[in-house]
Amino acid sequence: MDEGGSRIRRRVSVRKRNRPSLESVFAASPATELKHSDEEKDDDEMVAGSRRRKTVDVQPVEVQPHHLSDSRVPRFNGRLRIRIPASLGIIDSEEDMFGDYDSFAENSFLAQVDDLEQKYLQLPEHRNHATDHANEDLCSESDKHNTLNVTVVGDCTELNIGDHTKNQSRHEDVSIEPEADILYDVPSSQVLFFENLHNSSSDLGGPSTEEKDWNSSFPKTVNEELPVNSREQPQQTVESSSKIRTSSDANRGKSLKDHLKSTMTGNAKAQTPIFSRTKQLKETLLSEEINVAKKTIESSSDDLGPFYSLPSKVRDLYVQFKGIEKLYEWQHTCLTLKSVQERKNLIYSLPTSGGKTLVAEILMLQELLCRRRDVLMILPYVAIVQEKISGLSSFGIELGFFVEEYAGSKGKFPPIKRREKKSLYIATIEKGHSLVNSLIETGRISSLGLVVVDELHMIGEGTRGAILEMTLAKILYTSKTTQIIGMSATLNNVEDLQKFLQAEYYTSQFRPVELKEYLKINDTIYEVDSRAENGMTFSRLLNYKYSDTLKKMDPDHLVALVTEVIPSYSCLVFCPTKKNCENVAEMICKSLSKEYLKHKEKEKQEVIQNLKNVSGGNLCRVLRHTIPFGVAYHHSGLTSDERKLLEEAYSTGVLCLFTCTSTLAAGVNLPARRVILRAPYVAKEFLKRNQYKQMIGRAGRAGIDSVGESILILQEKDKQQVLQLISKPLENCYSHLVQEFTKGIQTLFLSLIGLKIATNLDDIYRFMSGTFFGVQQKVLLKEKSLWEITMESLRYLTEKGLLQKDTMCGSKEEFQNNFHITKLGRASFKGTIDLAYCDILYRDLKKGLEGLMLESLLHLIYLTTPYDMASQCDPDWMIYFRQFNQLSPAEQNVAALVGVSENFIGKKASGQAIRKKVDKNIVNRLYLSFILYTLLKETNIWSVSEKFNMPRGYIQSLLSAAAAFSSCVLHFCEELEEFWVYRALLGELTKKLTYCVKAELIPLMEVTGVLEGRARQLYNAGYKSLTHLANANPEVLIRTIDHLSRRQAKQIVSSAKMLLHEKAEALQEEVEELLRLPSDFPGLVASSTEKA
Ligand SMILES: Nc1ncnc2c1ncn2[C@@H]1O[C@H](COP(=O)(O)OP(=O)(O)OP(=O)(O)O)[C@@H](O)[C@H]1O
Ligand SMILES: [Mg+2]
Repeated sequence: MDEGGSRIRRRVSVRKRNRPSLESVFAASPATELKHSDEEKDDDEMVAGSRRRKTVDVQPVEVQPHHLSDSRVPRFNGRLRIRIPASLGIIDSEEDMFGDYDSFAENSFLAQVDDLEQKYLQLPEHRNHATDHANEDLCSESDKHNTLNVTVVGDCTELNIGDHTKNQSRHEDVSIEPEADILYDVPSSQVLFFENLHNSSSDLGGPSTEEKDWNSSFPKTVNEELPVNSREQPQQTVESSSKIRTSSDANRGKSLKDHLKSTMTGNAKAQTPIFSRTKQLKETLLSEEINVAKKTIESSSDDLGPFYSLPSKVRDLYVQFKGIEKLYEWQHTCLTLKSVQERKNLIYSLPTSGGKTLVAEILMLQELLCRRRDVLMILPYVAIVQEKISGLSSFGIELGFFVEEYAGSKGKFPPIKRREKKSLYIATIEKGHSLVNSLIETGRISSLGLVVVDELHMIGEGTRGAILEMTLAKILYTSKTTQIIGMSATLNNVEDLQKFLQAEYYTSQFRPVELKEYLKINDTIYEVDSRAENGMTFSRLLNYKYSDTLKKMDPDHLVALVTEVIPSYSCLVFCPTKKNCENVAEMICKSLSKEYLKHKEKEKQEVIQNLKNVSGGNLCRVLRHTIPFGVAYHHSGLTSDERKLLEEAYSTGVLCLFTCTSTLAAGVNLPARRVILRAPYVAKEFLKRNQYKQMIGRAGRAGIDSVGESILILQEKDKQQVLQLISKPLENCYSHLVQEFTKGIQTLFLSLIGLKIATNLDDIYRFMSGTFFGVQQKVLLKEKSLWEITMESLRYLTEKGLLQKDTMCGSKEEFQNNFHITKLGRASFKGTIDLAYCDILYRDLKKGLEGLMLESLLHLIYLTTPYDMASQCDPDWMIYFRQFNQLSPAEQNVAALVGVSENFIGKKASGQAIRKKVDKNIVNRLYLSFILYTLLKETNIWSVSEKFNMPRGYIQSLLSAAAAFSSCVLHFCEELEEFWVYRALLGELTKKLTYCVKAELIPLMEVTGVLEGRARQLYNAGYKSLTHLANANPEVLIRTIDHLSRRQAKQIVSSAKMLLHEKAEALQEEVEELLRLPSDFPGLVASSTEKA
C-alpha cells in the first residue's frame, strides 16, 4: 500500500508530558525540553511494585527462550498468577448467558478458550480426569477461593516456590509440572493463548513440532506491507511484535493447558445457578488482559502488546463488528508516533474516507481501558452522535465501559460518577460544552483523560465554532492532564490550530479508494488534473440521444449521468436548495425507463409501507412517486423517522439515488460510486473548497466501494470560478469567538467568572490569550488590542447586570479587580441562554407571574418558544386568524396577556394597514406557540404541517428546539428564587415537548436510535420497557418487527443493554451513597481526632 505523500510534521515541540500552564506558555520558550516528571517516576515504581507483588506462587511452567524475542509479550520481570475465585472460575458450558449475544470472533482469544473447553470436554479420557479434579476441588475448597496459580518461569530469576506454596496452603493450586526456569511474566490469558496456538495443531492431529505464527491466527497487520524504511522505524511495529512463538515443549504446554482445562471442567461441576460462569471466566480473563495492558501503557515501553496496548479482544471486535482486519499503514504509523505514546495533543488530517475514526477510537479505548479515565468525543450533528453511540455500544458491553449520549435532550449534568467502569461521552458540540462546564464546576475535569474532536475544521464555523473553541480553551486552561485530539479532512492553517491546542500534527494523503474528479460543461466531461495548464483535461463526450422534450426537461444531462451508475451502484446528487432536491428527484424519475421499477421492487414497496407506518399512514407525494424508481430526496424537510428509514434503504442498496443538500456532506458514511454536484452553489453562495471536498468525499468510501468519482456540473459563466475552486488551497478556518458576540465571548466571560476559572481581568486576559482567537487576533481584529476587547466585553456584561465588580478591592490595580456573577448572570449561564435574550426572558417570566393562564398549556408553551426561531418566522396571517378563532376564550386571553390582539391578527389577515406599532417578535413567537400547542394536542406532525402549511421537518425541528429551550428556561428559573413556581411546571412541559408521544413510548424512545415509529412497532410487539429491549434477541426482533434489519436490531439491543447498565449502576451508586456514613457524622470527627 503506497502512502505517497505521508509525512509527519512536528511544528510545535511542546515536549512535556503534562502540558504547560498558559502562564508558562507565554513565559517559557516553546522548545523547552523537560525531564520525566516525578509522576512518571512514581508510575514506574508503582508498576514495578505491582510486578513484584505478583511474584508469588507455585507450579511453574516453562516458556521457551524464544518468547524473549517476542515483543508482544509484555516484559514484566517476575511471575504471574491467575487467581480465579471459585465463584467465578467454574465453567458451565451449557449455561452461557451470552446466548444470542455471543460476539466472540472465531480467532478471539476468549473464543479459543471456549474451543479449548469444548475440545477438551469431548475427549473421554479428559472427561474422567476433569471429573476427578472437579471432585478434588469441591471436596477440599468448596467454601474457599479457588486459586488457579500459573507461574511462568524462565532462567533468570530465582523463585522460592516452597515458601509460597506453604503460604498459599489455603488455595488449591493447580499442579503444573514444576520447572526451575523463570522467564518473563506474561498475562495469564496470553500464556494460555500462546500455548493454545502452539498446541492446537497437535491437538487436531497436526505435526506437533510445527511452529505456529501469530499471523496465521490473526488478521495480517499493516506492517506486512510496510516499505523497508518504515520497518526500520524505532517504534514497535506490528510485524515485529507479531512473531510470537509458542513453546516447543509440547508436554509442558500441554501440562498447563491440561490443568487449566481440568480446573475449568472441575469448576463446571460446582453449582452456581445464578451467574453464567463461562461469561465470568471470560470477564476475568479479559480484565486480566486489561490489567496487563494497563501496566504496559503505564510503563511507556515500546511494547504494544497484542493490539496497540489493548487486549486482543479489541482487535477481534473490530473484525467482527466493523470488518476491519488490519490497520492501514498510516493508521499504524500514527498510533505508534512517539508524541502519541507520550500523550501529547495531536491534530491529524487525511482525505475523506481516510480511516481517521479508527485511530481516534483506538486511542479512546486505550484511555478507557488502560489508563482508566473517562473520554469525551465531540461530533458535529445529533444524527452522527446517535450513529456512533449505536456503533460503540457493543464495544462498551464487551469491554466494560459506558457509552453515554450527550445530544438532543439526552445527557446528565454533571455526569453520573461511576463506581468502577469508565465512561465514553459522545456529544454534540453544544452538549460537549455543557458537559465540560459541569465537570469544571464539580472539580472533576481531570477525570477526563482524553477529548477527541471530529471535524475539527468546524471550529471556524459560526456559533458552533465559537462554542467548540470555548470548550477546548477551558479544558486547556483547567486540566493539564487531559489530552486533546482533533481530526479533519479539510484543514489548511494548521499552524494556528496547533498553536492554540499546543498540538503536534500528522498528515498523509492516503485514501484507500481512489477518487476521480470530473467537471461537466455542456456535453463534455473533463478530468480534474493538477498537471494540466488550466487544471483539467478532456475526458469524454456525453453522447446520449435526448429527445427535444427531455433536452428541455434535463438540460444538464443529469439523467444520462445517473443512469451510467444506477441501479447497480449508488449515486448522490447534491443540489443547491431543498426545493431543488425534490424537483430533481421527480424530474429524473419522469425520464427513467420502467425497467427501473423492477429492481428490488418488493423491498421498495416495503420502504414505502414503512414510511407510512412511521408517519401515521401519510406519505409525501414526491417520495411516493420516486421511491419505486429507487430514488429519494434527502434534506432537513424530512422528519427524523423518514430520514432514518431512507438512509437505511439507501445504505442497503434498495434505494440507489439520493438528491440531497449539503447537510449530507459531513462525516456521514453513505455509499456512493458517483457524486454529482448539480451546480457549484449552496443556496445562493458559490461553493467553498472545503464544502466541495467534503461533498465529493462521499464517493468511494472504503469497505463500501472500490472506486469513486465526482462530477461537478457547471455553466460556462462559472468556469473561471470553478477552475479556481478545484485548484486553490482549502480555506483557512478562523475563530468566531468575538464575532459571535453574545453567543461567543460574552457567554465565555460569564462562564469563566461563574465557574471561577478566571475571575479578575488579568486572568481573563491570560485566558483569552490562550484561545484560538488569541492566536489569530492580529489577523482578525487589527484595530483593537486583545486587552481592549477583553475590557469592553467585561464592561458590557457589567452594564447588563450580569456581572459585578468586587467593591472590596477598590484599592487594587484595575487588572487585579475581581468580578463576580450576579443572580441573573448565573441563571443565564446555567440555562445557557443566549445573552441577547436573557433580559427579555426575565421580563417575560416576571410578567407571567402576574397572571399565568394555566387552564391550558398555551401560556407556558409561549414562554418556552425559542426567541431565535421566532425572529426568523413568517406567519401565514389567514392561518393565524383561523387558529386564533379556534381557541377557547381563556386561551385567547393569553394572546391579550402577551400583547397580541384579535384585532391586529384580523387586520393582518384581511390585508388592512395597521397604524399601531406591534412587536413583531412577540407576534411571531405566539404564532410558533400555536403550532407547538396544536402539536402537543394532536401529536401528529403531518396534520400540523398541513394545518400550518409548513414542512414537517421544520415542525419537528421547532419541537426539538422548544424542548431544549424549555429545559434551558427551567435551569434559568432554578437559579432565581422568585421563579420557584415555574420549576415544577417546566419540568413536566419539557418532558411533554421532548417526546410529544404517548407516555408509554417514552421508555423505548430513550434508547438511542429508537424513534417514534419504531417505538410504536416495538411496543405493539410486546417490548414495552427498556428491560424488554435489553433482553431481546435480535434474531427474534427481525422476525417480529417489520422492516427491521439485522444491523438495526443488534444496535437497538446493544444500546438498550448499555442504557440499562448505566441506570443500574446509577441506582447502585445511589444505594451506596444512602448507606454510607456521613463524613460529618457526630462523633466520627471527634474519634478520628482523638486517635490522631
Ligand atoms: N484499516 C481499515 N481497513 C478497512 N476499512 C477501514 C479501515 N479503517 C477505516 N476503514 C473504513 O473506512 C471507512 C471510512 O473511514 P472513516 O469514517 O474513519 O473515514 P474518515 O477519515 O473519518 O472520513 P471523513 O473525513 O469523510 O469523515 C469506514 O467505513 C471505516 O470502517
Ligand atoms: Mg470522519
